[in-house]
Amino acid sequence: MSDITLQALLVPPEPQLLAAMARRRSVPPAALVAPAPSDEQLRDMLALALRVPDHGLREPWRFVIIAGEARAELGRGLAPLYRAANPQMDAAKREKFAGIMERLFLSAPMAVAVISRPDRNCAIPVFEQELSAGAVCMNLLHAAQASGFGAMWVTGWAATNPDAAALIGTRDGEKIAGIVHLGTAASVPPERPRPDVAALTSAWAPASGA
Ligand SMILES: Cc1cc2nc3c(=O)[nH]c(=O)nc-3n(C[C@H](O)[C@H](O)[C@H](O)COP(=O)(O)O)c2cc1C
Repeated sequence: MSDITLQALLVPPEPQLLAAMARRRSVPPAALVAPAPSDEQLRDMLALALRVPDHGLREPWRFVIIAGEARAELGRGLAPLYRAANPQMDAAKREKFAGIMERLFLSAPMAVAVISRPDRNCAIPVFEQELSAGAVCMNLLHAAQASGFGAMWVTGWAATNPDAAALIGTRDGEKIAGIVHLGTAASVPPERPRPDVAALTSAWAPASGA
C-alpha cells in the first residue's frame, strides 16, 4: 500500500479535476459504441470506483462485467423472464418490452453491474452500506469519463425484478445498485437543466418556538 504526504493529498486547487466534475454527464447506451475499455483500463476504473467511503470496512459491493457475447446471451435469458413476470399485460406491449430486455445490453459495448451486498450481521446500518454502493456507481461514472469513455447508470426492470437481477448475478440478500453502461461516446449529449444549489441549501437554525 503506497502512502502520500499531506502536501500531495491536498494539492490546491485541482482545476482539471473540478472542470471534469463540472462537465460530467451521462451518455445514453444508444450513443455508446466500441471500443469498450480494455481489460487494463477497466481494472483501473474499477479500482478508482472502489475508492469510496465504507463505514465499518464491510466492502458491501462487487461487480459483474457484461461484455462481448455475454451481452446477447444475457438478453436471451431476460426476455422470457419478462414475459413470465407479466402474464396479464397486453400481449403486444409485453412483446415490445420483452424485446427491449433482449436487446438491453446490445447497445453499449460493455456494462458493469454494481452489486450491493450489505453485511446484515454487523452494526453498520444496511442503508449506509447501500449508500456506499451508490458511491461506487458515481465514482465509476467519473472514472469512466476521466478515462475517455462515456457511461450511464441505469436500473429499470432488469435490475429490480428479483429473477432478472439473479440472472445478472445477485445472490441472496444482494441488490443491483446500478447497471453502468460503458463505451466510447459517439456524440455529446445535450446539457440538461442542473439543480439550483441555493434552492436546495439552507443553514441550520433552531426551530422557531424552541
Ligand atoms: C439509481 C439510479 C438509477 C437510474 N436508472 C435510470 C434508468 O433506468 N433509466 C434512465 O434513463 N435513467 C436512469 N437514471 C438516471 C441517469 O443515470 C442520469 O442521471 C440521467 O439520465 C441524467 O443524466 P446526468 O447524469 O447527465 O445528469 C438513474 C439514476 C440513478 C441514480
